[in-house]
Amino acid sequence: MLINHLYFIQFCVKSRFFIHLNGGSSIKILGLVGSPNINGNTTKLVNAILNGAAENGAEKVIYNLASLNIKGCDACCRCQESGCCAIDDDMQELYQEIQAADTVVLGSPVYMWQMTAQTKLFIDRLTAFLKPDFSSRLDNKKLILVFSQGSSDRDAFKPYFEYTAGILYYLGFDVLETIIAAGTDNLEVSFRPRLLEKSRELGKLVSTTHLSGPEFRRGESSLIPLI
Ligand SMILES: Cc1cc2nc3c(=O)[nH]c(=O)nc-3n(C[C@H](O)[C@H](O)[C@H](O)COP(=O)(O)O)c2cc1C
Repeated sequence: MLINHLYFIQFCVKSRFFIHLNGGSSIKILGLVGSPNINGNTTKLVNAILNGAAENGAEKVIYNLASLNIKGCDACCRCQESGCCAIDDDMQELYQEIQAADTVVLGSPVYMWQMTAQTKLFIDRLTAFLKPDFSSRLDNKKLILVFSQGSSDRDAFKPYFEYTAGILYYLGFDVLETIIAAGTDNLEVSFRPRLLEKSRELGKLVSTTHLSGPEFRRGESSLIPLI
């Protein structure tokens, strides 16, 4: 019995298969940014949301996906049965962080009409949250999607953003909102106090809401920054 117990602990340490339990009363908000610009537009927006949540007492953590060692899924499919990805890289830490978070804020700049390659590597690896029957191991975890784009046409990539929200929904996230910062080629996010303020307000709201995505969007659609 003791041996089994030790084996289990050894397994957990080796695979870093720990699920963080949120022992305290504060909620946790996790920011993930797929831009190589660590102080760029996307990071500033994600930070604004995180800061708003922190004002309501949430614990905030942010990672830059482009700075991490995240390999591409190698299609071994071992995660389907075990729920653990076999690749030993920085995704192991992110799996734990996602499990522990109440809300995830995922941001990417638009590169070639899509998310960045760094963000896509991350999304592919989320397949570890799918069971063999493709149902999710995540229980409708709240997520806010953030995109920044050089083009000032807000609707230019709208179908792609909706498609991306659909993928995340399939993976087991409840997408509450998508924030789009359009026209960053002309005006960077730092010079848009209204957009940053709206994002901060959204963070505050998300940290307290019990609404599901469709209810949240219906009630708070005015919060979608239009600038
Ligand atoms: C390689 C590359 C490809 C890009 N492709 C697009 C694009 O297809 N459409 C667009 O509107 N902006 C495009 N942009 C501009 C970025 O989306 C924009 O500058 C964004 O705000 C950068 O975010 P960041 O400051 O967080 O890195 C591209 C930028 C780079 C470097």
